[in-house]
Amino acid sequence: MLPLINSAADSSPVSFDAPRADDVVLTGDRPTGALHLGHHAGSLTSRVALQGRCDQTLLIADLQALTDSSGRASHVAAHVEEVALDYLAAGIDPARTTIAVQSRLPALAELTVLYLNLVTVARLERNPTVKAEVEMRGFARDIPAGFLCYPVSQAADITGFRATLVPVGDDQLPMIEQTNEIVRRVNRLADTPVLPECRALLSSTPRLPGVDGRKASKSLGNAIPLGASADEIRTMVRAMYTDPGHVRASDPGRVEGNVVFAYLDAFDGDVAAVDELKAHYRRGGLGDSVLKERLTNVLEQIIAPMRERRATFVSDRGYVREILRDGTERANEITHSVLRDVRRTFALGE
Ligand code: TRP
Repeated sequence: MLPLINSAADSSPVSFDAPRADDVVLTGDRPTGALHLGHHAGSLTSRVALQGRCDQTLLIADLQALTDSSGRASHVAAHVEEVALDYLAAGIDPARTTIAVQSRLPALAELTVLYLNLVTVARLERNPTVKAEVEMRGFARDIPAGFLCYPVSQAADITGFRATLVPVGDDQLPMIEQTNEIVRRVNRLADTPVLPECRALLSSTPRLPGVDGRKASKSLGNAIPLGASADEIRTMVRAMYTDPGHVRASDPGRVEGNVVFAYLDAFDGDVAAVDELKAHYRRGGLGDSVLKERLTNVLEQIIAPMRERRATFVSDRGYVREILRDGTERANEITHSVLRDVRRTFALGE
């Protein structure tokens, strides 16, 4: 069995079946910064598990990144290759997973333009993820139109590959729902179904907090990057939020909300030992430094092989560019064939 589960709420209109061999898997990342341990615990591990079992594409979504970062265009451009390096470091095998760059797939842009005719502004404004992001970024009415419409571009990403399974975090469920609405509209316009609906695949790991206990984010600098050095790991673990009421080692401490335990739960394979540490911590008599030392070692064991793999690819960036070129070429063929079908639906010629 794959180390993946689908336990999400039954009430959601998005479905969550287990992966099937004939699934087409598509997922993406905005290249706004280095990938971090939260990505590793959540999506990267399941992507590595899926490759070779399903047809899988990873899309580096640089156009989507520009929808809220147009002022940082060169930062986004520079991170396209960095995200590819993170994939390769995490064990993504380009022979079994296609890695493609969104901005070099013109069919996706054209699909977006066509789909925009099937979506209302009111529906876009109701998308809960867009709503939360607009609030977080303080856009108010000055929201870039491209940002408001990025769920439509994401629907183009997903349908452009005829994807049936989309591994994502739960914040992306509204995107899947909106994608399927668009799929149904396109299929209704056509005589025969043109596009498949897709299901979400959620990771079994709860969202990993940042070292300060807030939401982990590339921009807050509170996440441990996959390329972290041993020193960076040590420094960030030392700064981790624990229990402010746990002043002396002898004091009883809280496990809930304690970031060190959240990371041990996610990465320490010895579950029985972690349970014992939790009990000891709650009773009192266990200092934070002992826990942090253990976590530092656990994380180093996970990151060291990735750091090594990353270094070999960094020394051959020409090869990394070739991987992106090949993957994007393959993706261009697929997305163009989908575009041909969708254009026909809109009574547009070849
Ligand atoms: N919106 C996703 C995120 O911010 C990234 C993304 C772009 C994506 N295109 C996609 C995810 C297609 C899944 C499928 O994480």
